[in-house]
Amino acid sequence: MPSTKRARSTRQRANASTRSLVITIDGPAGVGKSTAAKTLARRLGLMYLDTGATYRTLAYAARRRQLHPVADADRIAELARQLPIELRVRDDGSLQVRLSGEDISAAIRTEEVTEAAALVSQHPPVRRALVKRQRELADRHGVVVEGRDTGSVVFPKASHKFFLDADPEVRAHRRQRELARLYGARSPIAQIREQLHFRDGLDRTRRVGPLVKPRGAIAINTTHRTINQVVQMMLRHIRRNRPER
Ligand code: DC
Repeated sequence: MPSTKRARSTRQRANASTRSLVITIDGPAGVGKSTAAKTLARRLGLMYLDTGATYRTLAYAARRRQLHPVADADRIAELARQLPIELRVRDDGSLQVRLSGEDISAAIRTEEVTEAAALVSQHPPVRRALVKRQRELADRHGVVVEGRDTGSVVFPKASHKFFLDADPEVRAHRRQRELARLYGARSPIAQIREQLHFRDGLDRTRRVGPLVKPRGAIAINTTHRTINQVVQMMLRHIRRNRPER
C-alpha cells in the first residue's frame, strides 16, 4: 500500500477506536507535558491542544497593544474573547501558532511573554474567556490537551487524566535546554530556577483554576523517565481503561 494511504488507514483505524477520547495532561513547567502530549496525540491519531499557547498568545497580543498584564485585566479579558488564534501541529511535530494569520510560534516563547502570560493567566475573567476558547478549539473527535487546569476545569469529564511532576532541579535544566534550542543562548540556571519558582507560586495559589492534581488523575513522576517511557505508561493506562461506548 502507498505510504500516504497506509498513514490514512492507520489514522482511520486509530480514530475508530479512540473516537471522542479526551485526554488531559496537567503539571508545572518543565515536566515534559508538551512532548508527551504531542507524542500521545500522534500515536492515537488525536488532535493536540496546548492551552499554555493560548495564554501566551493573549499575553503577546496584549503587549502589542501596550496593555499592562495586571492593571489592564478587563481589557485583556475582552481581547481574549475575540482572539483570532490558530493552532496547528507541523509535519515535524512542532506547534505552529498564528494570530490573525501571522506566525508567532517563536515570539510567544520569549522571557518577556513567558512572564506576561504568567500574570495575565491570574485573572478570573481572562481564564473564563480562554477556557471557553479552548473548548471551542478542541476537536470533538478527540483531543490530547495539556496545561494547568485541563483535567480540573477545562474538561472535568475527560476520559483519561494525567498529572506530571518532576524534581525542580531537573525541570530547571530541561527548561534551560528548551530555551537554548529556541534562542541559541544558554540562560543562567539560577535565573531559570527563580523564574520557575515564581511561576509555580502563581500557578498553585491562584483562586480560579489553580494547578492541582485533578480528581481521578494518574500521577507520573518524570524525573528519571524518558518521554518514551512516560508515553508508554499513558498508553498502557488508556488501553486498560477504555471508556464504554
Ligand atoms: O505551559 P506554558 O508554560 O506554555 O504556560 C504559559 C502560562 O500560561 C503559564 O504561566 C501558566 C499559564 N497556564 C495556565 O494558567 N493554565 C493553563 N491551562 C495553561 C497555562
